[in-house]
Amino acid sequence: MMTPRDQPLNPGRIVPGVSDPASNSPVNTAISPFDPVTIGPLTLRNRFIKSGANEAMCLDGKPTRALLRHHSDLARGGVGMTTVAYVAVAPEARTLPNQIWMRPEILPDLRALTQAVHDNGAAISAQITHGGSFVTGMKVKGRTISSSSGFNPAGMLKGNFLQRAMTGADMERVTAEFVAAARLARDAGFDAVELHMGHGYLLNQFISPLSNRREDEYGGSPENRVRFPARVLAAVKEAVGDTTAVLAKINVADGTRRGATVEDGVVTARALQAAGADMLVLSGGRNVESTWFMFGSRMNREEISRVLREQGEWLTSLMMKVAASSEPAVEFREMYFLEYSRRIRAAVELPLAYLGGIKSLANAQQAVAEGFDCVVLARALLHDPALVNKFRSGELTQSGCDNCNGCVAYIYHPAGTRCIRNPPNDLAENRIPASAGTGT
Ligand SMILES: Cc1cc2nc3c(=O)[nH]c(=O)nc-3n(C[C@H](O)[C@H](O)[C@H](O)COP(=O)(O)O)c2cc1C
Ligand code: SF4
Repeated sequence: MMTPRDQPLNPGRIVPGVSDPASNSPVNTAISPFDPVTIGPLTLRNRFIKSGANEAMCLDGKPTRALLRHHSDLARGGVGMTTVAYVAVAPEARTLPNQIWMRPEILPDLRALTQAVHDNGAAISAQITHGGSFVTGMKVKGRTISSSSGFNPAGMLKGNFLQRAMTGADMERVTAEFVAAARLARDAGFDAVELHMGHGYLLNQFISPLSNRREDEYGGSPENRVRFPARVLAAVKEAVGDTTAVLAKINVADGTRRGATVEDGVVTARALQAAGADMLVLSGGRNVESTWFMFGSRMNREEISRVLREQGEWLTSLMMKVAASSEPAVEFREMYFLEYSRRIRAAVELPLAYLGGIKSLANAQQAVAEGFDCVVLARALLHDPALVNKFRSGELTQSGCDNCNGCVAYIYHPAGTRCIRNPPNDLAENRIPASAGTGT
């Protein structure tokens, strides 16, 4: 099996004389998003990846039958790899109570899930992560951890008012939690792990100057801010990297004043390349400060408010309404991170996955032609899990997703996340563990 160092970096990325007139970026029309791709120890059947999108399909922190169905539908629908979203490395690493947290007892359910995806020809990745001080849906014992101490606005609703700066011992403990979660993921049959370093979760709380106010070797310059996340990645890579691809999801920028810039994004990407990442998934934005940047469009806070009210979460519902009034109006553009992602592409050599507003086959083709090794889609595949097969057969060239962001509200729904243009999920399926009746 080829190692990342043996394989040609982005084979054939640059074809002299061929360029996109709109961007002057080098393009290679010879690579198709349907071609296989090698990421570290893993080869995917094609370059389409389902992005981690909180499924809310867990029972007591373990996968349900609904989660199994969701990911096997995506595998059957043609993706090269699907990503199980927000897999917490510890119970207090969750942001919401309906997320997986990794522990040996849930191995049978994880194995049922990975088996169902493999049976349908796709690979499966676990997005392993820690929320740090971003804990919106549950009370954490004591103060939440983060890069810096102080007031914690994200934790207000559930009484997590304060956060404390991680010590050296905390860093060792959290690194060990990531390593243990990665080992468990490998043992459960996952082909890849994706360390979440974007969107405002713990590792991003180090990278982003919006949360990192440290004055030691982990704060200040962008090189210092990425030091701890890069160390976590190197430890995970050392533990599982010979069999399991190690990915990181990063922000190309935070998209807001005083947040990380694309220049910071370049430093982050270079540090993770040096730490041994097999591929970076390029995202952006922060859960609290800039969701519109993350989604390329305004959050549907009205729908979120409605779903939360239904669950009796009146206060959270009200806060969502208030937050809606301060959001800028953003007009959705396909491939809304392209300019930022090109800057990262030009600065590093490791494989990169383009994410953000891929809505058509032409978008996917453009991304791979510009040197992105994979394309990562969330909403288009939530709307239609069979989109990749439909692109391949010619049945569709464009996603029917209209970017209304109604799906985001359903991360709070007991039946799990869904596209609001599709029929409702089956609540009963979300109350059965994934392994029930499988003998796993
Ligand atoms: C319902 C929903 C839930 C999401 N939850 C997560 C998550 O748990 N982890 C994550 O990294 N991104 C999450 N995202 C963000 C997506 O992974 C992706 O970055 C974003 O939707 C932009 O990609 P798209 O334009 O293909 O939808 C979520 C998106 C949606 C729509
Ligand atoms: S609810 Fe459906 S149509 Fe609206 S953004 Fe989500 S996936 Fe797209």
